[in-house]
Amino acid sequence: LENGLARTPPMGWLAWERFRCDVNCTSDPNNCISETLFKQMADHMVSGGYLAAGYDTIIMDDCWMSTSRLANGTLLADPVRFPNGVKGLADYVHSKGLKMGIYQDYGTNTCGGYPGIYGYIDIDTRDYASWGIDYVKMDGCNVDPATMNKGYPQIGMALNSTGRPMVYSCSWPDYMRIAKIPIDWQLIIQYCNLWRLFDDIQDSLSSVSSIVEYWGSQQVLLSGIAGPGHWNDMDMLIIGDFGLNQAQSEMQMALWAINASPLIMSNDLRNISSWASSLLLNKAIIAVSQDPLGQQGIRLARNATSETWVRILADGSFAIALYNTATVAATLTFQFADLGFSSATVTNLITQQPLGVVTTSYSAPVQPFGVWFIRAYPKL
Ligand code: DGJ
Repeated sequence: LENGLARTPPMGWLAWERFRCDVNCTSDPNNCISETLFKQMADHMVSGGYLAAGYDTIIMDDCWMSTSRLANGTLLADPVRFPNGVKGLADYVHSKGLKMGIYQDYGTNTCGGYPGIYGYIDIDTRDYASWGIDYVKMDGCNVDPATMNKGYPQIGMALNSTGRPMVYSCSWPDYMRIAKIPIDWQLIIQYCNLWRLFDDIQDSLSSVSSIVEYWGSQQVLLSGIAGPGHWNDMDMLIIGDFGLNQAQSEMQMALWAINASPLIMSNDLRNISSWASSLLLNKAIIAVSQDPLGQQGIRLARNATSETWVRILADGSFAIALYNTATVAATLTFQFADLGFSSATVTNLITQQPLGVVTTSYSAPVQPFGVWFIRAYPKL
């Protein structure tokens, strides 16, 4: 979508994977979907250095709403959990230098059963603008996916006509895929800044590796449709949660960066290990993710126990991830000739340490489902 936004993959924090639809603020006041949770996360986005690193948007997901609209059709936040309304929360988020994202659903109801936008597109998009929303995630439950080629553009045009710039995140191709309806990618590129096209991420290695496998299997299509203003969303980063160890977290960070995926964390920034935080804040990896060329990488090679993923960057260097897909540690090797050069100046992107000039090939030990992740500047 050429609205001037998302020139590099969006970065931020989204509530869903970690906090789900926990609406019980009586028994779980610290973790329920509420103004308090988002304010605390906003504070930690700033104090933890995430905003400075580029994570600039805090996004609500399902279950923030009141269960019914007002008689005039207006949608409200749950008045008990959000006593100052969305506007009050957005003002707070903006006062911290962050952007505010909201969740809605194109159907009659959200996946969690709250009111959807169907029939209320003009009212809701005008309200988003007046509340100060900067980013909209539009889900696709409870509607016939065959109508999405009309409905998602219609919402996009309504957002645009408010005059307030809002990043538009669409779940449209995911629901089309599930319904086995052919996807018109040109239409999606034209109307959305980013889109979900595969299963929801869960807090597990098997979920992360199934997403990576899908991206690898569809790489010709997917690397061709991503670029400044329009990105394939692999779903949230679960780094700092429970399902991935450190090596596997490095794998998620590396492969999301190589694939120019949005980097949208879903974790508890109030309580996160120092290694997870450092990895999320890794400047060298973020530079790969946010590379101005915006060329999504590809899986260059694979065998039964490993894969090589590569992304070309604006300065002519390459980000290269050797991914160990076996359940035992292994030494993996990359031949520079596979990218057409014989030697390169190499940086280790995980440690951010220079490795000097390397000739012909590089070999490194890699833990199960971890990566060796380097940036190679070819010597001509
Ligand atoms: C399905 C989406 O894909 C998830 O990311 C999340 O938004 C849930 N719906 C919320 O119900």
